[in-house]
Amino acid sequence: MAPQKRQRTTQELELHEVNRLKWEWKACADAQITRTRPGGSFTLDADNRPVAEGLFWWFFDDPRSRYDLRRGILIKGGTGTGKTTMVNAFRDFHLRHGGNLLFESAATIALEYARTGQVDRWLAPRLVAIDEIGCEKVMRHYGNELNVIAYVLHERYALWQRRGIPTLATTNLDSDEMEQAYGPIIRDRMREMFTHVVLDGPSRRQPAPTV
Ligand SMILES: Nc1ncnc2c1ncn2[C@@H]1O[C@H](COP(=O)(O)OP(=O)(O)OP(=O)(O)O)[C@@H](O)[C@H]1O
Ligand SMILES: [Mg+2]
Repeated sequence: MAPQKRQRTTQELELHEVNRLKWEWKACADAQITRTRPGGSFTLDADNRPVAEGLFWWFFDDPRSRYDLRRGILIKGGTGTGKTTMVNAFRDFHLRHGGNLLFESAATIALEYARTGQVDRWLAPRLVAIDEIGCEKVMRHYGNELNVIAYVLHERYALWQRRGIPTLATTNLDSDEMEQAYGPIIRDRMREMFTHVVLDGPSRRQPAPTV
């Protein structure tokens, strides 16, 4: 059975049930912040609300999402705009609803290849999210040099075509830089397999106090 990103339908829910789900998602998002900023909370504002809302419905396969439910999502944005935090919040929320999102950075996946020669779990027919694509290095396992993420994206594209299983990713790069990292063929595939979503605004990082 093909894994679904949705475990239950939200389309028939009453308004108060939808609100409860949104509140639950916000709690998952807040928990991301309090790990590094005790007492802090996840700010929802004009920069990230449309993305959070679109992803919320996308994860439930609900047509209220502004994003195409059949395609994956590529979250683009400058440094510190909250891309990783957003996906982490959805991974935790998705888990609470019986889903299972495998989420790892491109650099770690590439290093895993260099260490073990394996990338198989990223090619599995399930929902995966890859953080910071385009920033990793080309890796070598013994004599075999591989542009690991280009290869993973190539295979994820095939998986999406064959079985409709989407992929999520985040990046700091624009499309030209992406082409430099992965070549024109992968760039063209990425145009089709992902809805390109921009998470805008200034960096949300707060400097540590000087002591
Ligand atoms: N909505 C938010 N409200 C408050 N703080 C946030 C929010 N989103 C992210 N942050 C905080 O901002 C910082 C940067 O977030 P995050 O690492 O998710 O950004 P990023 O876009 O992935 O950055 P990079 O481009 O460097 O990968 C983190 O300290 C995170 O806790
Ligand atoms: Mg990040």
